[in-house]
Amino acid sequence: MAKPKVFVTRIIPDAGFDLVKAACEVDLWTDELPPPYEVLLERVRGVDGLLCLLTDRIDAQLMDTAGSQLKVISNHAVGFDNIDLPAATARSIPVGNTPGILTDATADFAFSLLVSAARRVVEGDRYVRAGQWKTWGPSILLGPDVTGATLGIIGYGRIGQALAKRASGFDMRILYYDPMVVDPAVPGTAVDLETLLRESDFVSLHTVLNEQTRHLINRDTLALMKPNAILVNTSRGPVVDGQALYEALQANKIFAAALDVTDPEPLPMDSPLLELDNLVIAPHIASASKPTRDKMSLMAAQNLLAGLDGKQLPNCVNPEIYSQPQ
Ligand code: DGY
Repeated sequence: MAKPKVFVTRIIPDAGFDLVKAACEVDLWTDELPPPYEVLLERVRGVDGLLCLLTDRIDAQLMDTAGSQLKVISNHAVGFDNIDLPAATARSIPVGNTPGILTDATADFAFSLLVSAARRVVEGDRYVRAGQWKTWGPSILLGPDVTGATLGIIGYGRIGQALAKRASGFDMRILYYDPMVVDPAVPGTAVDLETLLRESDFVSLHTVLNEQTRHLINRDTLALMKPNAILVNTSRGPVVDGQALYEALQANKIFAAALDVTDPEPLPMDSPLLELDNLVIAPHIASASKPTRDKMSLMAAQNLLAGLDGKQLPNCVNPEIYSQPQ
C-alpha cells in the first residue's frame, strides 16, 4: 500500500522524525528559515498530513490548496495561534499540539529570566567583557530581591502554575489572574488584572495569544505596574505592545523586562528595544532543552500518524470534530 504523503516544514529531532520517516513518504523542508508562505502553499498540494512549526501560517487558503485529502495538521508546539483553528474545524481537520511535556522546561526558563533581569546577570556579563569591572563596589549593578517578592502570574494554566511552584521555593507571594482557572493545583491568590499589576514586583505572562490578550500589556497596563516591577514574557510576543514597553523601560517606569518572545520574531536588529540595558532578551528558547525538544517531536509525530490512520489524535486542540456529523 502506498505510504501517506506528508510535508514536514523543518528538520525536527530524530526522536519524532524517525517515526514519520518509517510510516510516510516525506517531503522535508531542510532550510534553517521557514518556508515562505508561497512555497508552503506549493508544497502542501496533495499531502495527507502536515507537520508544521509555530513559524508557519496555516490558514484556510493553505488547507484548501492542500486539498480535501488533508487528514491532519500537527503543530510542533503547544501554542497553535499560527493555525486558523476555526478553518480547520470547519473542514473537519484535526489539529495536534504538544502540551505538558514542555511545561517544566518553559517554567525553568521563565524563572531564570526573572532572576536574570532582577539580578542583572546579562548586564553584569556585558560589564565584565567591556572592561568596566575595576573593583568590587557597594553600588554596582544593584537590583531588587527575588526572595520574598510578589509574583503576579497572568495565565494560570500548566506553565503558570509550574512557575508558581518554583517561586514558592523562593518564598514568593503568588497572585494570579486567569478567569478560566477556578481551583488550581498550585496555590496562589486569584485577583483581577489591575490588582495583580499594582501589587506585583514581578509579572510573568503565560496566556495564549488571541484577540483578548493581544497587547494586554500596553501603555495603560504598564502604567499600573510598580516602578521597581519586572515584566517577564515567555508566552507570545504580541501579548505585549513592544512600543509601549520600550517607552516604559526607557523612562524607567518599570525596572526591567525579560522577553523570550517578541513581535515580530526575530526582532529586527534596529529595534529600539535592543538599545536598552534593562531588557534581557532570548530567541524564543524557553522550551529548548534537548529532552523536551525530543519529546515535542515525538508527540508531534504521534499526532500526525494517528491523524493519518484516521484515529483520534492523542493531543487534539479541536476534538469537537470527532462529534461532528460526517
Ligand atoms: C510552544 O510550544 O508554543 C513554544 O512557544 C515553543 O516551544
